[in-house]
Amino acid sequence: MDQLDKTNLPRHIAIIMDGNGRWAQNHSLGRIAGHREGTESVRSIVECCRRIGIPYLTLYAFSSENWNRPEKEVKALMTLLERYLKSELKSMMRNNIRLLAIGRTGALPPRVKAVLDDTVAKTAGNAAMTLILALNYGSHDEILQAVRTIAEEAGRRAIDSASITEESFAARLHTRGLPDPDLLIRTSGEYRLSNFLLWQMAYTEFYFTETLWPDFREEQLLEALLEYQKRERRFGQTSAQLQKTRS
Ligand code: FPP
Repeated sequence: MDQLDKTNLPRHIAIIMDGNGRWAQNHSLGRIAGHREGTESVRSIVECCRRIGIPYLTLYAFSSENWNRPEKEVKALMTLLERYLKSELKSMMRNNIRLLAIGRTGALPPRVKAVLDDTVAKTAGNAAMTLILALNYGSHDEILQAVRTIAEEAGRRAIDSASITEESFAARLHTRGLPDPDLLIRTSGEYRLSNFLLWQMAYTEFYFTETLWPDFREEQLLEALLEYQKRERRFGQTSAQLQKTRS
């Protein structure tokens, strides 16, 4: 942790937590045991981000495509999520962490949805860090929803199409009010975005690692952050222009 430059930390980290199944296979366990161990990584990374001072952390916990997995696995993931939310409420309150969810959460099993809503409501006043869970989330779906809203508003002349800006569009996404991710981490050696925050990641730095999610803990997060701090974020400008504005 001491090697980190505290003045150059990402404000928002997004993570595609991948490799639970392969971790389980490597340990001769069933896939669900992999998800259980993955939940321990969630705990560890949330705690770590809070301690380092990362204000926003988004975790891709369940994609809209994940419903296609075997029923038993979907059920187990929902149970793990419910248990996680119940068991972490105390710690979220103690650590001043606010919970938010993005995605079509209305389609989650009613028990999970109730615990989720309850946790979001109880932690709403917390301000040290925001943990965002992407649940039944798909970026194309989110963008289409925003387009439909805008089309409907334009249809009833509530807005004028010429006045639609990047900001007004972003304000109709599930992530409204949140800063875009500065750093995306994907574990398990897969190099895809998998329909995750496509609009929001236009200028995000990508970090891919072979480490499987259940093995991704404090040490691995630190490695990702050190790599991030080596990057030069130019936002379309040249390196020379950036040096000039910094001096
Ligand atoms: C990908 O691994 C992981 C998921 C689809 C689910 C992520 C869920 C958790 C980490 C646990 C529950 C979440 C919370 C927030 C408590 P995979 O199954 O696709 O792995 P594989 O590619 O090796 O099969």
